[in-house]
Amino acid sequence: MGYKIINEDCLIALKDRTLQNVDLTFLDPPFNQQKDYKLHDDNMDEKEYWDMMSNVCKSVFDLTNEGGSIYFMQREKNAEFVLSCLRNSGWTFQNLIIWKKKTSAVPVNGKYGKHYQIIAYATKGKKAKTFNRLRIEPPLPPNYKFLREKGVFVTDVWDDIRELTSGYFAGNEAIRDKSGERFHKQQTPIALLIRIILSSTEVGDTVLDPFAGTGTTLVVAHQLQRQSIGIEIDPLNTELIEQRIASIRDADIIQKYYKDYSCTENIAEIWGDDFEDEIDIKPIGLFTSQAEN
Ligand SMILES: C[S@@+](CC[C@H](N)C(=O)[O-])C[C@H]1O[C@@H](n2cnc3c(N)ncnc32)[C@H](O)[C@@H]1O
Repeated sequence: MGYKIINEDCLIALKDRTLQNVDLTFLDPPFNQQKDYKLHDDNMDEKEYWDMMSNVCKSVFDLTNEGGSIYFMQREKNAEFVLSCLRNSGWTFQNLIIWKKKTSAVPVNGKYGKHYQIIAYATKGKKAKTFNRLRIEPPLPPNYKFLREKGVFVTDVWDDIRELTSGYFAGNEAIRDKSGERFHKQQTPIALLIRIILSSTEVGDTVLDPFAGTGTTLVVAHQLQRQSIGIEIDPLNTELIEQRIASIRDADIIQKYYKDYSCTENIAEIWGDDFEDEIDIKPIGLFTSQAEN
């Protein structure tokens, strides 16, 4: 499926009038928490940072089709800024998704430890033009006798997707340099993008990622037969994205997640034609422990 990788500041690239008809945007910007980015100052004045994000949200809104969607990921402490940023740029709020971490909580003095990140889901217009209600099959909870025959609908709490943290938890999916260090500390798991793209698009739709990083969005969109556009300011990252799509690594192959969604009524249609390839692949998807991987 077609993809476009743009090596530019997204604030400039998003003004390009040839970018249009976007159906879904995944927004995973730097969180302004003093991380080390080569070409981005992650220690901006708070107002300057949120003005920048409002600008991005407005530009994305302008090039999105009516009923298209945006998923804006952030730290939970910034929830009120995220919601007002989306509202002020025209988006209609739909859900505040809690992405609960599988690793231990970050301890904080004087208040509760932090155990999740937020993903605000909003649409252009009152209603999404596409929303596929996915069904998954979580393991049987203790004291339950039978699994539900048709699984359960995905809710706004996502506690089944493992983040790519340092160490062995990151598994093979984390891209590493020659010294074994992770190439990009904020690489998003493919499982997260599979869920978002399956929920909010159809085969052939266009998915945009203005802060593409290692290109997870494009790698998943490409395999799910959606068109994709990735914008990334760092040329080393755009080079990596090119390679990552040109030669899909085993760890990036999405078919191993197909069975996790097999209770979803229209899964064959929304997954695209390649779903048949999954038959030889061991299902090591959402509900398999790290030890089994
Ligand atoms: C949190 S990371 C995204 C990670 C991505 N989701 C992945 O799976 O790899 C944010 C990315 O935005 C890039 N970036 C920062 N400022 C940018 C800008 N103004 N325009 C485009 N990219 C930018 C950074 O270089 C970084 O790679």
